[in-house]
Amino acid sequence: MNILVTGSAGFIGFHLSINLLKNKRFKVFGIDSLNNYYDKKLKIKRLKILKKKKNFSFYKINLLKKKKLNSLFKKNNFDIVYHIAGQPGVLYSLKNPKSYVLNNTAATKVISQVAKKYSIKKFIFASSSSVYGDQKKFPISENFEKKPKNPYAKTKLESEKIVIKTLKKSKSKYIIFRFFTVYGPYGRPDMFIHKFLYSMKKNKEINIYNSGKNLRDFTYIDDVSKILIKSLNKKIYNKILNICRSNPILTNKLIDLLISNYSNRKKVKLNKIDFVEGEVLKTHGSNKNLKEIFGKLIFTDIKKGIKNTVKSFKINNA
Ligand SMILES: NC(=O)c1ccc[n+]([C@@H]2O[C@H](COP(=O)([O-])OP(=O)(O)OC[C@H]3O[C@@H](n4cnc5c(N)ncnc54)[C@H](O)[C@@H]3O)[C@@H](O)[C@H]2O)c1
Repeated sequence: MNILVTGSAGFIGFHLSINLLKNKRFKVFGIDSLNNYYDKKLKIKRLKILKKKKNFSFYKINLLKKKKLNSLFKKNNFDIVYHIAGQPGVLYSLKNPKSYVLNNTAATKVISQVAKKYSIKKFIFASSSSVYGDQKKFPISENFEKKPKNPYAKTKLESEKIVIKTLKKSKSKYIIFRFFTVYGPYGRPDMFIHKFLYSMKKNKEINIYNSGKNLRDFTYIDDVSKILIKSLNKKIYNKILNICRSNPILTNKLIDLLISNYSNRKKVKLNKIDFVEGEVLKTHGSNKNLKEIFGKLIFTDIKKGIKNTVKSFKINNA
């Protein structure tokens, strides 16, 4: 089976690829523009690990280059596309919304059109819990009203609509997964956990938004990869599903876990600041529909997930 993973040098695309590559019958093709939203060295580091596998090939391509994509599809006969590439980050989207229109909305349009042209079997898209914005009722189900409150969320919702519109009457079936704060080894340095780890290492002060009272439904990367891979053999067609542990944790509790795993004696300079515009206060998804389809799913406990993440950070600096 020939599988294309967009964003394979990114956090989630890398883990998904590594896990797909364990199956020797899969040929995994990674694409990434290797943009410099965060330190490119981390992307190169992830790619170095992937390139050790014989059944992996990498192409440095920007998804906006339709011609290049077309020739890659023509040559390789892909069965499956995992569209994981994108411009993430809530706060950066307030500063540079253009990057979101290009790398989320426009890029999704191009890849879904090319996937349709080559009649790939399944198109699996990485969307985000941010499309829900601030809700009053919890846990959040897929059918709740969408209230995107920043350019990141708006372009992810727009991308979902593009996937649906392009593929709904085609031979290619789509699955849209809405991820809730994914974390783990080799995580993104702009996200809270790795930002915190880097700050601890360098003895730097760290800003804690909303005085640490935010609640986030943290979901461990291996759980996400497993579900993404299981969905290859599931008869799920044209569906939208949350991927979450459905068990949110307070930022202040998470900080305790990070400090105790890093080193009990570590003194960290916390700068508790007020609410930050554009941020969502609480995420807590429902995984009821996910479990109905996938059966019994066991989600990694946050204590174990953080332990693994801190361990990898100490060994690999990532
Ligand atoms: N990490 C999370 O908690 C989380 C939560 C919800 C949704 N998501 C979504 O999952 C996806 C992956 O997130 P991540 O955390 O791995 O981010 P990431 O930034 O680590 O990975 C994204 C990768 O896509 C690449 N990319 C961006 N624009 C591109 C383009 N035009 N052409 C080719 N490659 C391009 C980047 O270079 C990067 O390596 C994103 O779409 C994000 O919106 C992530």
